[in-house]
Amino acid sequence: MTTTPASSTHNTQRWNLNSLRLIRSDLSRIHRGIMLRRSRFPELAASHDLTILDLGCGSGAFLRHFHEQGYRRLFGVEPDADLIRQIPPDCAVVKQGYAQRLGFDDCSFDVVFIYGVLHHLKGLEAYGQALDEVRRVLRPGGRLFILEPGHWRMFRALEICAKLLGFFSPTFRAFSDVLDEEQPDVHFFIRNHLKVREHLISQGFLPLVDRYFLYSWLFTASKPA
Ligand SMILES: C[S@@+](CC[C@H](N)C(=O)[O-])C[C@H]1O[C@@H](n2cnc3c(N)ncnc32)[C@H](O)[C@@H]1O
Repeated sequence: MTTTPASSTHNTQRWNLNSLRLIRSDLSRIHRGIMLRRSRFPELAASHDLTILDLGCGSGAFLRHFHEQGYRRLFGVEPDADLIRQIPPDCAVVKQGYAQRLGFDDCSFDVVFIYGVLHHLKGLEAYGQALDEVRRVLRPGGRLFILEPGHWRMFRALEICAKLLGFFSPTFRAFSDVLDEEQPDVHFFIRNHLKVREHLISQGFLPLVDRYFLYSWLFTASKPA
């Protein structure tokens, strides 16, 4: 993984109000539940004693969800301090930082969870750095969950549908605005997501789920013991 399409290796874009409105919508909540089940999260990360890192946790949508489910050893990493402030402190320990340089010790986590973050990184080199950090902080036998856009045609269809529905619904208008803002990075990721899989497999990860659902690519893998 060596090519980088842009100069920066991390996303510095601030979330706008549209993005926040979107992730708090009922639509997003339903979507989150479906994605977790399709990734086999409830089955493969069943014990509430697991130590879980939500990488690029944003304002904590998944951390809140995991907390509600009974998980108590929750950690997050997020570059945006404004988003971190929105996460209840009793829900998780959240550090400001970047996927490419995680401020945690080796083998700290049973589970690393990544939802919609890798496509914000700038190019293959940054993906590789982030994945190597994930491997470092995950304990042997630990589980990695990646949920990212990955199905090109479905994603293009989604972009068009969101634009059309945006004429009628503020939620879809917000969604469409986010898609427009993120388009170059997302399209680059979708075209290259199989290199992410190759990289992980070359590092010894054993795939447990590797499938598409709607526009998403769901990849669950186990770190070699
Ligand atoms: C689409 S949001 C997803 C947020 C969260 N995972 C969720 O599901 O609500 C992408 C998140 O990735 C974060 N992000 C962007 N670049 C990052 C990086 N280099 N390292 C870690 N997180 C990053 C953004 O700040 C943002 O919170």
